[in-house]
Amino acid sequence: MAKVKIVETVLRDSHQSLAATRMTTEQMKPILTALDNVGYHALEAWGGATFDSCLRFLEEDPWDRLRTIRDTVKNTKLQMLFRGQNILGYRHYSDDVVEYFVQKSIANGIDIIRIFDALNDARNLRTAINATKKEGGHVQVALSYTTSPVHNNEYFAKLAKELCEMGVDSICIKDMAGLLKPYETYDLVKAIKSEVSVPVELHTHYTAGVASMSVLKAIEAGVDIVDTAISPFAMGTSQPPTEPLVASLAGTPYDTGLDLNKLNEVSKYFTGLREDFIKSGLIKTGVLKVDVNALIYQVPGGMLSNLISQLEKQNALDKLNDVLEEVPRVRADAGYPPLVTPSSQIVGTQAVLNVLLGERYKMASKEFRGLVRGEYGRTPAPIDPAFYKKICGDEKPVEGRPADALAPELDKLRSEIKDYIQQDEDVLSYALFDKVALGFFEKRKNGTLGQNVDVPKVEAPKAAPAAPATANVGVASPSGASGTYKVTVKRV
Ligand code: CO
Repeated sequence: MAKVKIVETVLRDSHQSLAATRMTTEQMKPILTALDNVGYHALEAWGGATFDSCLRFLEEDPWDRLRTIRDTVKNTKLQMLFRGQNILGYRHYSDDVVEYFVQKSIANGIDIIRIFDALNDARNLRTAINATKKEGGHVQVALSYTTSPVHNNEYFAKLAKELCEMGVDSICIKDMAGLLKPYETYDLVKAIKSEVSVPVELHTHYTAGVASMSVLKAIEAGVDIVDTAISPFAMGTSQPPTEPLVASLAGTPYDTGLDLNKLNEVSKYFTGLREDFIKSGLIKTGVLKVDVNALIYQVPGGMLSNLISQLEKQNALDKLNDVLEEVPRVRADAGYPPLVTPSSQIVGTQAVLNVLLGERYKMASKEFRGLVRGEYGRTPAPIDPAFYKKICGDEKPVEGRPADALAPELDKLRSEIKDYIQQDEDVLSYALFDKVALGFFEKRKNGTLGQNVDVPKVEAPKAAPAAPATANVGVASPSGASGTYKVTVKRV
């Protein structure tokens, strides 16, 4: 029995899930040395929505944050979350941008890059995998976990095996919606472990209250690494808490080797920070309670709250049950995509349209057509040809890797911001978040950064990550209907 390794998420997913990604570098700095001294396998400290949040809300240079953390954290590996060909943004980027982003992430201090794709299309992972290997980083691929007639243990085990053949160094089960229950987790880990020899990690969310039990069963099934958050920033929509797991495993063959006293020092610091976050409204106590909706409806908590707010705006909250029954049907029609950014917004909005317009697919959003057409990659199950015809008409499906259609972008981007460039990395910030990055560069140039940032208030009702309405699911006035449905979409 090997010891179980722990990845601490407090610097990334934990505050992304609980506090709209608003933890600042200044709030992290005082505790970095103590975190480094714990002996974690890694600190998940960068990527995901943190990059966007730094530029958009905190007026911080995300690259400076990474360098600051790296300067203090000398002994512990730093890990980031990377959305395949989407990098940390919301569209597909060309290969030269993906490669350069990976290069600069590693050059500035990242050790482990966790790469995933919403559709689990390996073609959307390939460039990032190869770039990470080239730069000498550890490649971890995360399987976006979901349930459907095509997503069973054999599917995930086979996918894991294929990815290992592409040279990945470890595999993560990414249960972003917190769907995994303990005994299912056991069987899933066993199935994957029987096909791969690289370490397997479990990433789940506490939302439905079962995550600590699932983590324990994963450990019994032989999982090598688990993601947890220090207790003041754990549970609710975040990860299961670190200290109870460390205590539970102590003295067993799975002993993590971590010292509860050292963890307690970390915990004390974050207890104070948690109180500040609750007082300022950045952590809403609503996200801290157990919410079994994820298990009942199989939708992520954030997606559910977005559906509710969409319906509220239409004065149609009484249609919530109809929409929740429509979501799985839309998902089936679209080839069972896992519900994670951006597919969760696309499927959710289409379900709302189908219900509100009183006729299924009377209108399809641009993004839904794109999903069906293959613009985001290959859907897990093939699309029924008659359904394809109904949604896309005579438009040809995208057969190849979506990014193959994209020309190199870096040189053009560099020339667009030549008056602002202060470091090589600036072109990457601009590539991902053009207008937001320009606003940031402008303030940096004028020396006015941070002047409007006090304690930003969170508007999203639930653990919505940083960016607003970026999925931009455009909804035109439906033909034959009077008035326009304006469907606001938030990332979940
Ligand atoms: Co997560």
